[in-house]
Amino acid sequence: MQKKYLMTPGPTPVPAEVLLAQARPMIHHRTPDFSAILMEAVEGLRYVFETTGSDALIMSCSGTGVMESAFANCFCPEDTVVVARNGKFGDRMVQLATAYGLNVVDLSYEWTETVDPADIATALTENPGVRGVVVVQSETSSGVLNDVKAIGAIVAEHPECVFIVDSITGIGAVECKTDEWGLDVVMTGSQKGLMLPPGLAALTVSPKAWRAYERSTLPKFYFDWGKYRANLAKETTPFTPPVSLIIGLVEALRMIREEGIENTIARHARLAEATRQGCEALGLKLFAPDDGRGSAVTPVWVPEGVDGKAIVKIMKDTYGVTIAGGQDSYAGRIFRVGHLGYFGDFDIITTLAALEMTLAQLGYEFERGAGISAAEAVFMGQA
Ligand SMILES: Cc1ncc(COP(=O)(O)O)c(C=O)c1O
Repeated sequence: MQKKYLMTPGPTPVPAEVLLAQARPMIHHRTPDFSAILMEAVEGLRYVFETTGSDALIMSCSGTGVMESAFANCFCPEDTVVVARNGKFGDRMVQLATAYGLNVVDLSYEWTETVDPADIATALTENPGVRGVVVVQSETSSGVLNDVKAIGAIVAEHPECVFIVDSITGIGAVECKTDEWGLDVVMTGSQKGLMLPPGLAALTVSPKAWRAYERSTLPKFYFDWGKYRANLAKETTPFTPPVSLIIGLVEALRMIREEGIENTIARHARLAEATRQGCEALGLKLFAPDDGRGSAVTPVWVPEGVDGKAIVKIMKDTYGVTIAGGQDSYAGRIFRVGHLGYFGDFDIITTLAALEMTLAQLGYEFERGAGISAAEAVFMGQA
């Protein structure tokens, strides 16, 4: 038997309380019992997304489904959108916008850079009539955190332009103040900070985004937000919902509320800091720039002369610790430690210990114990 540790930025570990809630006998979704659960889930989501002004909708799909829904529901064919991208999921936004026949003003950055809000302001000035700005807040492929607060302030000056934010690995890990920052559409997926299995996604829709919806003529059916809103007014869903996932969601949201969203975010910041300091103490280089490091995932450069794919394989096979490799052109060149959702200090200590043993096995030279010692110092407030 080998004890397993899931240290990836999605799927993430599911707490026992949530697993048990989901194991309850099935109930029918057209019942007052389910309506009460649904409404509790929606209220809990609004708490986590920090909104009172937006509606929260739940859909049965992975994160990409709600990303797609944002395009189908906010735009007309040939509308112009600004997509700022610095990673794999920003790339996907461009693919989606293109698939829906939109004109894309493509602001492309290196994966190691943050999106510069000034570039968004310039793009909006140079392209009058832009209907949407799309940004990934927490880029899972690169660990970069983009400043959606600053970008929100810029987009807010354009009454016909909605700000669409992929916070799929942001929500529950980093600050995301939907109302205060003027974020019109914010989305997340269940297998991330919400600590659930994959299969459910949620998003918020502001009054400005509803105005875009009313104007939008792109085809939509299953993902038509209006259907979800109309049914929510009757405390139900347009289609058969993922009942067990929603029951689990209520439990997960209760856990977050109990911790308090500010404390949840502070815990993630502490875990991320310990991971970063632990890796740097081993002489490893961090991938994300120091002005834009998120708390969901820590990507690290594979050191010179070490086989990056072997790091991930040995961690998993020998030590039972699953981390993620690099994506696309960074496959084998970086590895990523996820700490998003149900994680505590000792998950980080365990991972750093496994990383030290793995690196030693691969012939990398460093001071044994330096990584865990640096992490302990962060946890003890001595860093
Ligand atoms: C930032 C971000 N956006 C979008 C997605 C896509 O979500 P899914 O794989 O759930 O469709 C992911 C998944 O990892 C993600 O991390």
